[in-house]
Amino acid sequence: MSVSALNGAFAMTLLLMTCGMTSCELLKNGGFDNGMDPWHCWGFSCELLGSADSHQGSHAIRSHGRTKYYQGPSQEMTTVPGKLYQAQSWIKFLNDTTGSLGQLIELEVAFNFPDDSHDYVNVAMRPLVTVADGWFLLQGDFQAPPKAVKSTTFYYQGPVAGVDFAVDQASVAEVTSDSNWRKETDDVINRVRKSNINIVVTSPANIDKSAVKLRVVQTKKGFPFGATVDSWKYVNSSQQKYRDFIHTHFNWAVPGNALKWRQFDWHQPHEGPGDKLYARAQSTIDGLRKAGLKVRGHNMVWSVEQFIPEKIKQLSGQQLRDAVKNHIQWTMNVTKGTLEHWDVNNENLHGQWFQERLHDRDYDLELFRMMHQADPVPKLFLNDYNVVAQGAATSAYLAQGQRFKNANVHMSGMGVQCHFFKDQEPNPSQIKRHLDTLATVGVPLWATELDVQSADENTRADYIEKALRALYGHPAIEGIMFWSYGGSSPSSLQALVVDGSMTLTAAGRRVLDLLENQWMTDETHVLSQSGDHFTVRGFHGDYEMQVIYQGHQQSSLNFTLGKDDETVNVNVHGHT
Ligand SMILES: *[C@@H]1O[C@H](CO)[C@@H](O)[C@H](O)[C@H]1NC(C)=O
Ligand SMILES: *[C@@H]1O[C@H](CO)[C@@H](O)[C@H](O)[C@H]1NC(C)=O
Ligand SMILES: *[C@@H]1O[C@H](CO)[C@@H](O)[C@H](O)[C@H]1NC(C)=O
Ligand SMILES: *[C@@H]1O[C@H](CO)[C@@H](O)[C@H](O)[C@H]1NC(C)=O
Repeated sequence: MSVSALNGAFAMTLLLMTCGMTSCELLKNGGFDNGMDPWHCWGFSCELLGSADSHQGSHAIRSHGRTKYYQGPSQEMTTVPGKLYQAQSWIKFLNDTTGSLGQLIELEVAFNFPDDSHDYVNVAMRPLVTVADGWFLLQGDFQAPPKAVKSTTFYYQGPVAGVDFAVDQASVAEVTSDSNWRKETDDVINRVRKSNINIVVTSPANIDKSAVKLRVVQTKKGFPFGATVDSWKYVNSSQQKYRDFIHTHFNWAVPGNALKWRQFDWHQPHEGPGDKLYARAQSTIDGLRKAGLKVRGHNMVWSVEQFIPEKIKQLSGQQLRDAVKNHIQWTMNVTKGTLEHWDVNNENLHGQWFQERLHDRDYDLELFRMMHQADPVPKLFLNDYNVVAQGAATSAYLAQGQRFKNANVHMSGMGVQCHFFKDQEPNPSQIKRHLDTLATVGVPLWATELDVQSADENTRADYIEKALRALYGHPAIEGIMFWSYGGSSPSSLQALVVDGSMTLTAAGRRVLDLLENQWMTDETHVLSQSGDHFTVRGFHGDYEMQVIYQGHQQSSLNFTLGKDDETVNVNVHGHT
């Protein structure tokens, strides 16, 4: 290659790199090292901070005299329709507020369209921020609308009037998708979802090895694939097809609503196990377990105000603490031995009702301690949204996960809900980036509430396949649960199956092809070709090894393949 061609190749690489994974910067002067320009502080004041008060470099800025929650430094930028961007900034609060545990801070993007309508997109959020948090990184992503915009503005908002905050190192950059994602997820799947089955065959010397077939067939999946269960349907005697569908295709399940406090215990105090509402939850759990499924508990409390039982909302102080403790102990008592997991405090990034009401920042940790004390067996989970399918709460979830881990309150896993928006095409690189971030907490991640939405069943099939490959193809994911999967017709936005008849849509057929065909092992080897020692790389799960001689099954043996390789000794007999 000539020198000029080398230079050409080099220049080409540089060009690609300047617009690579985290470059193509849209903001100007994001570090404030060139003063305030072109940032705006409409209706309040901003002042430059020196290097002693910046996060990095010579300056940061501080907003001061804010009178509205939506006031924060802003800058106009130009996005390309349909492209995906990552936004981030370091932030530090300068004031706390009396009477609240902390304040929300958000990165926001406003799209102003030619017809003067607006779209405000929450790009990143973190709740309960205080001065004590010091500098922290807030990160998120957004997709530019797929149509022309008149102007696009990046800004900060959230804290109530009077709260000053400093910001530094703001950035908005295009994220390119990794076109190699399919190969990378396939590699992960091969590496972490499978192990080697080393087969050692002993056979009589005079046997015709070309007449001996060895079939290694997986009979059960090891990896947890589960689904929500509507307990009203599940206990209805005329819904046999519904029960069969769940029992046939899944090894895990979760009552979607039946265990929620508001559902099974509207009245306080508890009515006890005779309570009709609880009885429905219990027979659902019992039926699932009898069919061999493992069951998650969802959820013990839910910190978003609208989901708190009315009678509980009236309580405060010690009375509230006692009621919650009683609810936990009673529920753990009656479900003892039947549930593998519990979502303890649902969507705690998006609601902090118990903490606020008790004015106890650490009551979220206390809930986990009480759960563990009531029954140390079920694994305790956080469970939240906008953390993987979208990224607005990913960095807040990372911080929350680290806090729970460090507090040693028996958090065993983090649930990432994975609800995709209507017509949102799952982006495997974006999913991976979010999972990589959350995996740094160091506990298993479960996709607890996966669903995608498209009125076209083939598009829906492509969407759910992408989401499944990205999740199953990430080493931190240890279970995947489908949430909304029924619908009145094949064009229902989330339907994998049509209600009642339980016939599969194209999306449902795609899911089952992955779960039961592509991600299951069934190999037959002819002894004359395989040799006496050979290896099958198989998906984790239960297996049957069949010895077929001259077309007839001669013997079989069963084994389970886990994370460790397995050696299977097979004896072939002569003529039977
Ligand atoms: C907020 O904190 C800043 C910096 O400490 C201080 O100058 C300002 O007076 C405080 N504002 C309020 C409303 O307390
Ligand atoms: C049970 O399911 C059938 C068939 O869908 C339905 O007609 C009936 O109303 C259900 N019964 C109850 C009690 O919900
Ligand atoms: C839970 O079970 C324990 C042990 O049997 C019992 O002492 C306690 O009263 C029960 N708590 C509730 C709230 O039912
Ligand atoms: C192996 O497992 C299958 C079910 O998966 C069962 O039908 C069969 O009886 C088992 N065979 C042995 C030898 O245990």
